[in-house]
Amino acid sequence: MKYDIKDIKLAGIGGRRIGWADQRMKVLRMVRDEFRRKKPLKDLTISCCLHVTTETANLMITLKTGGAKPLLCASNPLSTQDDVAAALVKYHKIPVFAYRGENRRAYYQHINAVLREKPDILIDDGADLIATAHKNRIIVIGGTEETTTGVIRLRSLEQKRRLTFPVIAVNDSMTKHLFDNRYGTGQSTIDGILRATNILLSGLAFVVCGYGWCGRGIAMRARGMGAEVIVCEVDPIRALEARMDGFRVMSLDDAARIGDVFVTATGDVRVITRRHFLRMKDGVILANAGHFDVEIDKDALKRIASGPKRIRSECDEFRTRQGRRLYLLAEGRLVNLAAAEGHPAEVMDLSFANQALACQYLRENQSLSPRVYHLPWEIDQRIARLKLKTMGIKIDTLTREQKQYLSSWEIGT
Ligand code: NAI
Repeated sequence: MKYDIKDIKLAGIGGRRIGWADQRMKVLRMVRDEFRRKKPLKDLTISCCLHVTTETANLMITLKTGGAKPLLCASNPLSTQDDVAAALVKYHKIPVFAYRGENRRAYYQHINAVLREKPDILIDDGADLIATAHKNRIIVIGGTEETTTGVIRLRSLEQKRRLTFPVIAVNDSMTKHLFDNRYGTGQSTIDGILRATNILLSGLAFVVCGYGWCGRGIAMRARGMGAEVIVCEVDPIRALEARMDGFRVMSLDDAARIGDVFVTATGDVRVITRRHFLRMKDGVILANAGHFDVEIDKDALKRIASGPKRIRSECDEFRTRQGRRLYLLAEGRLVNLAAAEGHPAEVMDLSFANQALACQYLRENQSLSPRVYHLPWEIDQRIARLKLKTMGIKIDTLTREQKQYLSSWEIGT
């Protein structure tokens, strides 16, 4: 089913919001200017499965400016911003197959719809698009993957020797995960929790499950808002890092008794489950920032408590037999995208410059074998340099002597 929004007002709002984000995506704009001149994506059909946000809209416009025919479907049923979808269709003639709140059937219908258009390149966020392409034996020049969970799934496909085309793990670029996962998820997860609840974070016990790139950002920002942050991890090195960063570290069994807010950001399954729910205090808030809605065991929650009862938009109450209330945000889906607007444009600027340049790289390197690749280091460096330039920041350069010193084994004390 193709997105068909006739509401001009909706498209108007979306159009203005896309422009607002565009002003803050200066690196992507530079890439777009170059694409306008060189048309590196000429005649490529690029099927994309991404969160339908204002920032994604600017990526779609950039791909089109580069000569491609982009099509878009949603990478999550709750993250589509309908005004953005309407604006892309109306003003940019870019087909969008998505609407906010679509069910699982519609979600996959939309993925199949963008795959039917004989794509040359696939841009994915979570690997549902590329996995579906594999199930249907669709071969393309290559794909790109935006997020940690998607890269893990694609590496598993690669290890089983079942990957049939090359994929660029955009998430692995330094200019992606160091900034998007950390500062983007950090800020927008807090934003989502606040929009869904309007609580005061200051003075609360705020439990973060997973101290990876996303968890680090969430913990850092929650502390900045005055919360007492507790980190739960399974990796001893990351647990140690969290402790040395100044956070309390303990098992989730212990944290369950004292936490006021719980956020999962692990990419794992059933992290918060029945035995944790049973220990929690009355009134706790549960949210997820990981890619899929499997980190908080919703089925277990439904078994031990009545609900959901909608209390506020994106906030559902579950009541246990003992009368304790547990509040689940955004149905356990990515809280930053479902209850807020996802990452700020400034950070998606870096991620989507990577995506646009990854498409160009795939076009220019069509003999890659079916493996999962990093974008070359030089592209990462170039994006960082451009970002610094847009921020008006100059940095130093190595002298010839320093270069020699740093690459020599001969020079000692
Ligand atoms: P990461 O691999 O850097 O970190 C995950 C951490 O979770 C690891 O340290 C791991 O040891 C820990 N972990 C795994 N199972 C655990 C468990 N049962 N209990 C406690 N800790 C556990 O991954 P990253 O980049 O932080 O991504 C995490 C998730 O967030 C992924 O699903 C990723 O796709 C998603 N993501 C979401 C974004 C958003 O906008 N909400 C943005 C970027 C990534």
